[in-house]
Amino acid sequence: MTIHDDVQEVLLTEDQIRGRVAELGVELAHDYSDRQPVLVSVLKGSIVFLADLIRATELPLSVDLMELSSYGAAMESSGQVRILKDLSGSIEGRDLIVVEDIIDTGLTLNYLLRYLHERTPASVHICCLLDKPARRLTDIHIDYRGFTIPDRFVVGYGLDFDEHYRNLPYIGVLRPSVYGGAEPRT
Ligand code: PRP
Repeated sequence: MTIHDDVQEVLLTEDQIRGRVAELGVELAHDYSDRQPVLVSVLKGSIVFLADLIRATELPLSVDLMELSSYGAAMESSGQVRILKDLSGSIEGRDLIVVEDIIDTGLTLNYLLRYLHERTPASVHICCLLDKPARRLTDIHIDYRGFTIPDRFVVGYGLDFDEHYRNLPYIGVLRPSVYGGAEPRT
């Protein structure tokens, strides 16, 4: 029995993800060729994407990490965002690239953007691996998007269900028997 046995369908393969992340890396390297951006990433789901993205980007970049939580063990977004871990460095006057694994309702990012702008960075752009527009509750402009996905609950490549499956190397949909009942959210 492995984590793969719980996957009903692979939505994005390792190859597809690798190829797209490489393209995003090249795009960022081009657009930021004369700058030294700070990649602000949101734990925990983004760690795998961030790790691959920075190695696909030949820029003198730095990384800072925040942890926000709006979901906990619940299956639905509560819209309540809490800061579990704050930035460790100053972002004043810096060019920020927010790296997210998935944008669903957009509430987490909406909160984060307000928080970051209060600290007067030079610029803020958004890079997300997965965009699930079907459930968006707020208007978000995504500058760099890996894939647009349908309204399915996905795991893998950093994304979890109840803290598991983050280590799947692809993006997959779980068998309903795993969560028993209605498909979870985000
Ligand atoms: C996920 C994801 C985003 C957020 C997106 O985080 O990493 O931060 O939800 O959802 P939204 O657009 O509806 O706000 P989660 O709170 O599940 O924490 P995790 O990254 O630690 O798994």
